[in-house]
Amino acid sequence: MRVGIFGSDDDLQCQAIAKALGTLGVENILLRDDALDHGLPLSELDGKYIYRGVDLDDIRSFYLRSIPAPYAPAMEQDGELVLYEDWFERYMHQRERATFYVAWLLALQHRGCRIVNGPHAASVLQYKPFQLHALRALGARVPRTLISNDPAAVLAFLAEVKDVIFKPIMGGAITRALNEETLEELPQVVASPVIFQERIEGDDLRIMIVGDRIVSSVAIVTPEQHLDFRDDPAYSGGDAEYRHVELPEPVKEFCRKAARDCGLLFAGIDIKHKPGGEWVFLELNSSPIYLDVELKLGHPISAAIAELLVKP
Ligand SMILES: Nc1ncnc2c1ncn2[C@@H]1O[C@H](COP(=O)(O)OP(=O)(O)OP(=O)(O)O)[C@@H](O)[C@H]1O
Ligand SMILES: [Mg+2]
Repeated sequence: MRVGIFGSDDDLQCQAIAKALGTLGVENILLRDDALDHGLPLSELDGKYIYRGVDLDDIRSFYLRSIPAPYAPAMEQDGELVLYEDWFERYMHQRERATFYVAWLLALQHRGCRIVNGPHAASVLQYKPFQLHALRALGARVPRTLISNDPAAVLAFLAEVKDVIFKPIMGGAITRALNEETLEELPQVVASPVIFQERIEGDDLRIMIVGDRIVSSVAIVTPEQHLDFRDDPAYSGGDAEYRHVELPEPVKEFCRKAARDCGLLFAGIDIKHKPGGEWVFLELNSSPIYLDVELKLGHPISAAIAELLVKP
């Protein structure tokens, strides 16, 4: 048996999965997410994919860490981002390459291959508003939420909820508080909708779920409380510590159902929780970073993913 790994060769999680597969005696082949950017040969011939001269037709199971996505072809010049002169051509090539790659993944899924996680949920595609919808539909507690490009709606939400944070829909920016200072930027919201939420107090929990197994549930412990733990120098410097947290059965069940409803075989679920208080769900990450907690607490996340990949 062989398992395919979609990702990059310097990605530590791809390496960890490859190693865990090796422990199970299973071979892997790395399918580089930048293969087409580097002109590595990839062909589809009458429905069969051939990557760097290797026929991949026997592979039925894939770990998908990352996929290519088109982005603005820009570079930094004097502290500002400027587009390359041939930006249009570059962008169109990227779009063609990304489309071929995603279509490949969709074809694999259509053939019934196991993909952890499928292309609809690949790392660049995180539909937080949909996740909140799925969580709410299950009856899980989520923060009061307004997603809007309407400044008047935001002001009304603030007047009602009082303690409000905001964050991007797709991610890629730190969560901030809506206060006197940030309110000055409010007119900019017209450009694209933003998530505004009731601020939830408590510990940041990260739950790793693989299939139906909750493999790790920890609180992220940093010396100081930050609104967004990623803003904490201890966390970004690799000094975060983790404390195992025992989840009540109903919370575990919400995690399992939410992952299933969002089509995720592997997910990193973010929850806020204060001892004795509610368990408030924030989001489900489809390609979460987990090696730090695996190394520090010995939670066998890579092994669980490898086992899921080889399961009949
Ligand atoms: N409503 C909230 N109340 C309190 N803290 C929040 C709230 N929403 C987000 N945060 C803080 O900000 C962090 C990041 O928010 P969230 O997990 O929703 O998005 P994200 O991690 O930016 O998304 P992505 O990983 O896709 O970039 C949370 O882990 C939490 O620490
Ligand atoms: Mg998060």
